Amino acid sequence: MLITPFASHAVDLENGKKQARSCALCHGHYGQGTPGPASPRLAGTPAGYMIKQIEAYINEDRINPRMVVTSSLHSLSEDDIDDIAAYYESINLDKINPVLNHIPLWRGDVALGRELYEGDCKSCHRKNGMGKSRKGIPALALQYPRYLFRQIKMFQWDKRVHDDDPEDDTFDNLSDKEIEALLSYVSSLAPNNKK
Ligand code: HEC
Ligand code: HEC
Repeated sequence: MLITPFASHAVDLENGKKQARSCALCHGHYGQGTPGPASPRLAGTPAGYMIKQIEAYINEDRINPRMVVTSSLHSLSEDDIDDIAAYYESINLDKINPVLNHIPLWRGDVALGRELYEGDCKSCHRKNGMGKSRKGIPALALQYPRYLFRQIKMFQWDKRVHDDDPEDDTFDNLSDKEIEALLSYVSSLAPNNKK
């Protein structure tokens, strides 16, 4: 079954599931992750985005030696990586158990967050926070805010490149308070937090 336009071969979800066992230790049995900064959700994430991130970890453009070593990422073939990504993309947490799909609400200045988000983020991550999977733009509303906070700091510290642009200045002038405001708005867009 061909699921993703990024895969060069017909993906094998069974192989993906098998290979993903080494990811479960940190990302959870279903790729649901946990609310802390160090266990992002993979379930339902666009495969193309995940493949790009895995390559970035292997190339050390994103730094996470524990993940590379624990999962022997260096020894996985390209097809294995495509299969793992397709497997995680195919997981529908709501179907397995809606509780797994919960994103905690980050408390902050939601009104300020909304203003910042609609001014600077909406054009790519979309009004509903769901991103544009075919363009490799991740859904912020389905990711844990503490993890996102850390990623924004990584962008600010030039430890990770945002939007493929090393000169990107989206986060340069944001204070921690403004980042928290943004995340309080983004987390309010998660389906389980919508009123
Ligand atoms: C030892 C723990 C650990 C293991 C095992 C692990 N990961 Fe990770 N993974 C992490 C951490 C921590 C991060 C976030 C790191 C950061 O801040 O960049 C992460 C980030 C990611 C991301 C980026 C998510 C995003 O939203 O950008 C992807 C994709 C990913 N992991 C895939 C995998 C896959 C696939 C496997 C199994 C082959 C795996 N990981 C195994 C700890 C782990
Ligand atoms: C011009 C398009 C664009 C705009 C505007 C934009 N982003 Fe992004 N963003 C991206 C892309 C593309 C990625 C994926 C980067 C990659 O491939 O590593 C991304 C990734 C991210 C991530 C990492 C998500 C993860 O799972 O690791 C965060 C956090 C983020 N953006 C926050 C924001 C915020 C907050 C704003 C507004 C202040 C914003 N972005 C504005 C395109 C954009």
